[in-house]
This record gives sequence, structure tokens and C-alpha cells, in this order.
Amino acid sequence: MIAPMQIMPMQQRHVAEIAALEAAAFSAPWDEASIRAELDNPLALWLAAEDGAGAVLGYVGSQSCFEDTDILNVCVSPAARRRGIAEALMLELEARLAPRGVEKITLEVRSSNEPAIRLYEKLGYARVGLRKGYYEKPREDALILQKELTFDS
Ligand SMILES: CC(C)(COP(=O)(O)OP(=O)(O)OC[C@H]1O[C@@H](n2cnc3c(N)ncnc32)[C@H](O)[C@@H]1OP(=O)(O)O)[C@@H](O)C(=O)NCCC(=O)NCCS
Repeated sequence: MIAPMQIMPMQQRHVAEIAALEAAAFSAPWDEASIRAELDNPLALWLAAEDGAGAVLGYVGSQSCFEDTDILNVCVSPAARRRGIAEALMLELEARLAPRGVEKITLEVRSSNEPAIRLYEKLGYARVGLRKGYYEKPREDALILQKELTFDS
């Protein structure tokens, strides 16, 4: 893992860098205004991983409704991948959601996105469904993955 790295709730100063990472990684990215609006969304929790100089290394976005949370996106800067940053972000998200009463986390992933699928399965997410042709640009099925949070997760 890169050191020193800090994971914290997304702040105003992170938004532009997160939008740039989002645009580089996804064919239907969240735009900067939509990401900024999440700062004022009481249902949202986005975390950012910063390096020692304050640059954004990665982020995870989520929205919760009572005991259910959806992960909206997870992304790590290409230069910082394979160093445990996504795993650390996901675990920190769980640690922050569990005390709020969240019991279940759900996410969708492109069926060809092997790195992300491996990440989620390593963290204990199980395949619970398939949405045929869910994604566009390019059209592709979505796997639906889910994790039940337990007291020791
Ligand atoms: C998927 C993504 C977030 C992983 O980020 P990362 O910081 O590189 O992942 P980590 O280093 O924390 O890896 C944790 C685990 O995920 C799996 N993994 C991550 N990248 C992998 C790869 N390229 N190939 C195979 N497994 C991979 C491994 O199981 C890894 O554990 P290990 O190192 O013990 O083998 C990153 O590749 C990314 O930003 N991709 C583009 C955006 C994206 O597709 N997001 C997911 C949308 S649903």
C-alpha cells in the first residue's frame, strides 16, 4: 500500500479530481456537478483516498436507504492500482456504514470487469443476480453482487 495514505469522507476539494478519474474510467461517468451534489445528499457517503500531498488516489461512492446501501462507483487512479487502495476504501466504507445500521451492500459490475469482480469476491460479495444488457457503451450484462454486513465484518 502507498504510504502515507488517508481515507476520509469526500470533501469539496476532492470533487474535480474525482470527476477526472471518473471520466477517465467509465463510459457513462458522473459529472462534476452531480458528484458535488452528493456532498449535500444525506443519503450519500463517498470516501476519498488521498496521498501525502493531498492528491486523490481513489474513491468509492455510496447511497443508503435504511439498512440497504448501493455502491455507485469505485475507482483508483491507474498509476496507483494493485496497491490495496480499493480494498482499503471498501473496508473503510463498511466500517462507517455498519454503525449506522446498514445490513446489506449491493453493487453492479460489468460482467467482463475481472479486476473489480475479483476485488468484490475477495471482500465477500456474492453473485445474486444478472441484469441482461444493463450497461451501454458498450452494451453488456451487469452482475449484481451483494454482501451482508455482520458484526465482525
Ligand atoms: C477495480 C479497481 C477499483 C481495483 O482497484 P485497486 O486499488 O487496484 O485494487 P486493490 O489493489 O485494492 O486490489 C484488491 C483485490 O482486487 C483484485 N484485483 C484488483 N485488481 C486486479 C486485477 N487487475 N486483476 C486481478 N485481480 C485484481 C485482487 O483480488 C486484489 O487482491 P490481491 O492484491 O490480494 O490479489 C481498479 O482496477 C479500477 O479503478 N478500475 C477502473 C474502474 C472500475 O472498473 N471500477 C469498478 C466499477 S464496478
